[in-house]
Amino acid sequence: MAQYDVIVIGSGPGGYVAAIRCAQLGLKTACVEGRETLGGTCLNIGCIPSKALLHASHQLHEAEHNFAKMGLKGKSPSVDWKQMLAYKDDVIGQNTKGIEFLFKKNKIDWLKGWGSIPEVGKVKVGDDVHDAKNIIVASGSEPSSLPGIEIDEKVVVTSTGALELGKIPKKMIVIGAGVIGLELGSVYSRLGTEVEVIEFLDTITPGMDGEVAKSFQKILIKQGLKFTLGAAVQKVDASKTKAKVTYKLRKDDSEHEMDADVVLVSTGRRPYTDGLGLDALGIEMSERGQIKTNDQWQTNVKGIYAIGDCIDGPMLAHKAEDEGMACAEVIAGKHGHVNYGVIPGVIYTHPEVANVGMTEEQLKEAGRNYKVGKFSFMGNGRAKANFAADGFVKILADKDTDRILGAHIIGPMAGDLIHEVCVAMEFGASAEDLALTCHAHPTYSEAVREAALACGDGAIHM
Ligand code: NAI
Repeated sequence: MAQYDVIVIGSGPGGYVAAIRCAQLGLKTACVEGRETLGGTCLNIGCIPSKALLHASHQLHEAEHNFAKMGLKGKSPSVDWKQMLAYKDDVIGQNTKGIEFLFKKNKIDWLKGWGSIPEVGKVKVGDDVHDAKNIIVASGSEPSSLPGIEIDEKVVVTSTGALELGKIPKKMIVIGAGVIGLELGSVYSRLGTEVEVIEFLDTITPGMDGEVAKSFQKILIKQGLKFTLGAAVQKVDASKTKAKVTYKLRKDDSEHEMDADVVLVSTGRRPYTDGLGLDALGIEMSERGQIKTNDQWQTNVKGIYAIGDCIDGPMLAHKAEDEGMACAEVIAGKHGHVNYGVIPGVIYTHPEVANVGMTEEQLKEAGRNYKVGKFSFMGNGRAKANFAADGFVKILADKDTDRILGAHIIGPMAGDLIHEVCVAMEFGASAEDLALTCHAHPTYSEAVREAALACGDGAIHM
């Protein structure tokens, strides 16, 4: 069998990016993937397909709610669910084939099958054992369910099943008001499903800036989603076509039941490391099942590295990608670095929600002296013209130095807007630096500048 400098296990955003960077740095590289297509959860059953359904359902929402206001009259489109799923599958296909092309271009061997590490320096795929001077484990994560819930991916589904339901359900219960629950809940709500979200905590989207989370929930309620907060789901009883969710309200321990055609379980994900043989190698794991690494993505076993969802940190494709590039650079003898303080998070609902850096709650807890600059999209001409004036930009800066500490945006294209703040933070910029940067008019990004101005002498259009 071939001798490789690096074998990457897993071809998700962490794995395929690591493989490409290794190859670019002159290392002979292979990537092991057991799925029929490359790209991992993100491209096949995660980020990309959900974005396709979010896009299609948003177009429907625009046609139903905003077209007539602009003088665009006529019958609203009806939903051809099969075609919508075919469009989603086409998008997946284009993206996964794109990775295959990049592998060929960079001369990366795709070792097809599920990989394991029988001993240090070896990767087994099927009956073949390959030599590898370095191994990068990028095996990702899988949905984690709750005790008392059996997933059948038809009536009781994770995000995987929710991306290919046989038909649009009349009623859906979403367990967990996190990123997946709210993105997919939004999709089905726009397609006409009655969506009820049951969340354990008293707020949605744990970890998000409190003010943004509150505003986000209000907007979602306006869009038709219903919420039961402070409720612990006990069990789900399902037949072939229906499910009953039993939950307890935490405030008084009272038990309640709710019926639905489909239940989406979106209560988090856990690292996926099954079958790799990590135990036998003595690789240290955390209590949460994550592979332990040092700040160079090295495990405690020399020559074995790990990146992405299977190690510590937020389970985000772009975090995995950054680790993949940095880990490749470390293996090639260069300096690999990831700035974990500047990793944006985005929820792709409408409006989008995006954040980077610290929340106000975190700053308070850390006893930091900070100031807040806020600007509503109500004061942004472009947003008003586009029926997208719900939401605001909030910039948090150090009160003494004016250095930007965090930004939280709910509004149109928030997931793109956040990046100018990311770049500013990478360069250690002050709010004034952003405020003094000329922003084209009329753009949504003017709202970011106005929030930065609000950290100083004040926003102009508020
Ligand atoms: P999550 O961790 O974002 O949210 C899970 C929610 O379930 C929490 O609010 C939690 O309090 C709640 N919960 C837990 N147990 C419960 C119970 N018994 N009853 C009611 N509620 C309960 O997890 P989610 O949404 O499943 O996402 C998993 C991972 O995938 C996250 O790390 C997320 O960052 C990532 N992801 C990121 C996306 C993005 O960046 N746009 C899109 C999709 C997933």
